Amino acid sequence: MAETVRNPLFARLYARVSERESAEQVEHRRETLAGLRGRVIEIGAGNGRNFGFYPADVSEVVAVEPEPYLRDRAGEAAARAPLSIDVVDAVAGALPFQDASFDAAVACLVLCTVPDQPAALAELRRVLRPDGELRFLEHVHAERQPLRAVQSFADASRLWPRLAGGCHAARDTLRAIEDAGFAVAGVRRFDFSPGPPLPALPHILGRATLGVRGSGGHPR
Ligand SMILES: C[S@@+](CC[C@H](N)C(=O)[O-])C[C@H]1O[C@@H](n2cnc3c(N)ncnc32)[C@H](O)[C@@H]1O
Repeated sequence: MAETVRNPLFARLYARVSERESAEQVEHRRETLAGLRGRVIEIGAGNGRNFGFYPADVSEVVAVEPEPYLRDRAGEAAARAPLSIDVVDAVAGALPFQDASFDAAVACLVLCTVPDQPAALAELRRVLRPDGELRFLEHVHAERQPLRAVQSFADASRLWPRLAGGCHAARDTLRAIEDAGFAVAGVRRFDFSPGPPLPALPHILGRATLGVRGSGGHPR
């Protein structure tokens, strides 16, 4: 059965809150997208918060968003954006695009939510050109206690995923990116929470290529 994503309450809340996000978060978005060029796919684009920050060298963005309310908001944001953005109804685990058809891919606060990280990352690998790159901005499982244990409990109890539209607080997304065969070419890890007392920290921001593994050192 085809995967559907319907989170009407969360979607409305996310759209409202993200429109008032901090200058720091806006800066993270800019940093994530800086230097991109060519044809770009963004998965789980939400209400299109990234659309205003794509550099001029990006010729086209294909923005995948399965949640209907957020997809409509993304369509509105695309109409205001200074570049061509096509908003598409699809899920990250089954991208309706040809192999090697994108120069770059963007995963921004979405690998916490997709139901199957390996499937989503495999799809990103498939649609990227061999010299393409993945840019990511994601919150991940903390190393320090007691936050780490709280995040594990929040996920295991299903409390956090239910509240936050399927989000998981305790995923090791950097490892998942590497396990999918990407070579992490640079990453920084920092504490940032979109608003206390959310368990969505720390964050990782970086880039990965389809090349040889281990070409860039990074902190764990
Ligand atoms: C926390 S929001 C982030 C939205 C946006 N990327 C941003 O940076 O503001 C997570 C997004 O992932 C989307 N999503 C959920 N399941 C998905 C899936 N299987 N494939 C792609 N996107 C999905 C949600 O609808 C939502 O838009």
